[in-house]
Amino acid sequence: MSNGQKQLNAWSGTFGEKYVERNNVTLEVIEKRRYAFNHIFEHIEDSDAPGSILEAGCNIGINIHALSQITDAALHVVEPNQTALNVLLESGVVPASQAHQGSLQALPLKDSEIDLVFTSGVLIHIPDDVLEIALSEIHRVSRKYILALEYFSPDPHTVPYHGHTDFLFKRDYGSLFLDTFSDIEHVANGFFWRRTTGLDNLNWWLFRKKIN
Ligand SMILES: C[S@@+](CC[C@H](N)C(=O)[O-])C[C@H]1O[C@@H](n2cnc3c(N)ncnc32)[C@H](O)[C@@H]1O
Repeated sequence: MSNGQKQLNAWSGTFGEKYVERNNVTLEVIEKRRYAFNHIFEHIEDSDAPGSILEAGCNIGINIHALSQITDAALHVVEPNQTALNVLLESGVVPASQAHQGSLQALPLKDSEIDLVFTSGVLIHIPDDVLEIALSEIHRVSRKYILALEYFSPDPHTVPYHGHTDFLFKRDYGSLFLDTFSDIEHVANGFFWRRTTGLDNLNWWLFRKKIN
């Protein structure tokens, strides 16, 4: 079995269920994500604000709760783990028609269907053999913006993660996007330091498809 399939099976199954058990949608965690998205959206002109947003790998939807409080954009999600998706659906924050079980290997959305497509702590779990297709799927579905909030390292390496040695990667995801797609440009990037934001030392990169 390929590493990509092994990873997807794990997140869809028991390994993914345990992640759902470890996490909760609380006012405190939503507030931290609200801070993050408000900060990032300062780099988008009001006149160019996304009318639709997709989170690929949303889990129980902490980011989606935060986004629902700060934007009027139509929110869409894709998540491989059905239990996680059910938790989000029960909250009513996203209509069932905009919530899909699926993966970055094959996003169940049309080309350029969504104004802003983002991942948060998801690309870090995508192994080498499917990383290119994952980035291509994000790029394919995005009409305007691509946003990644992921751990950074200038040199790609793996980090032990809940008993696995090949389930968590750190890389320069910003350069990967820029070097892979010639039709996107850097808008902004930054770092959410745990000491000041409570977020998990996350790097973020915002790109936009070039206007012809
Ligand atoms: C660390 S959690 C992050 C959850 C959420 N994005 C957040 O920031 O709170 C990783 C999520 O990515 C999902 N995931 C794992 N592999 C995926 C894949 N190949 N395509 C899409 N999502 C995936 C997992 O099921 C899990 O929900």
